[in-house]
Amino acid sequence: MIKRPRRIRGNENIRRMVRETRMDKSSLIYPLFVIDGENIEEEIPTMPGQFRYSVDRLPYELERLEMAGVSNLMLFGIPAVKDEAGSQAYAEDGIVQRALREGKKRFPDLYYITDVCMCEYTSHGHCGVLCGHDVENDQTLKLLSKTALSHVEAGADMVAPSDMMDGRILAIRNLLDENGHKETPIMSYAVKYASAFYGPFRDAAGSAPAFGDRKSYQMDYHNRKEGMKEALLDVEEGADIIMVKPALSYLDIISEVSKEINLPIAAYSVSGEYAMVKAAASLGYIEEEKIICEMAVSTYRAGAEIYLTYFAKELAQFMDEGRIG
Ligand code: PBG
Repeated sequence: MIKRPRRIRGNENIRRMVRETRMDKSSLIYPLFVIDGENIEEEIPTMPGQFRYSVDRLPYELERLEMAGVSNLMLFGIPAVKDEAGSQAYAEDGIVQRALREGKKRFPDLYYITDVCMCEYTSHGHCGVLCGHDVENDQTLKLLSKTALSHVEAGADMVAPSDMMDGRILAIRNLLDENGHKETPIMSYAVKYASAFYGPFRDAAGSAPAFGDRKSYQMDYHNRKEGMKEALLDVEEGADIIMVKPALSYLDIISEVSKEINLPIAAYSVSGEYAMVKAAASLGYIEEEKIICEMAVSTYRAGAEIYLTYFAKELAQFMDEGRIG
């Protein structure tokens, strides 16, 4: 026998030497929920270990992130009042806008990305303005652009539209540019599937649609080519980073998109992925830490360069300890 694959698996040194997937803390993004009110740090029941923070309590979590070496975060807002037009999404003193001002003042070295969508702000929980029972695409673009602009004016370093309306990247790009924000990047949730894996997030944000579902704007998970179509469209519209979401059941899509698209590729390991790991681990059915590592590495191995995960702090620690990366 001349070829013996086991030769390069003999001990930890050589295994690390020949590793094909290498990761770095700088590629992690931590999703964070901010909520209207004061002195709130409430655990999300379906996402044990994740919390909603009021603006006054946010700095404590930002400090923990900075200590862990996680320097990028994605903000989600939960407003006190929701209405038909989601007006708190673009209010100057909206929850995300206030969180940005506070965060930027206290922890200026962190990188602030904001989720741009209407569903956390609308009384009906859909991702845009309604016309009958359907989300009206072109009217929604105006509100999304306004939201993105108000985030940037409040200090966002990058905006990330997650609504899946047609043409929103271009609409946002144009409004940002007209207002002198030519250098602010857009990370597009370009390849976003209608997924039951978002369930715990919707509990966290109170954003489950009051009727129907999101299938008329988010993608059907039977489709692969359509994912590529969405990614290519957003590249044309000026997206700077392309995201695939969810991650775990969509590694084929991550792989394909990363081969075809000459932009950084992000993958979002969503709330349902987090909740499954937490639930199974609490029952002693799986080893939590090993599962976190394996999920992360598989996502990078598939081709993601950026990883959004509720396990960002844990992963940063595992990378520091040399357990992965
Ligand atoms: C807003 C949005 C959602 C998520 C990110 N942005 C929910 C949804 O589309 O229903 C999901 C994130 C997660 O599940 O962790 N549209």
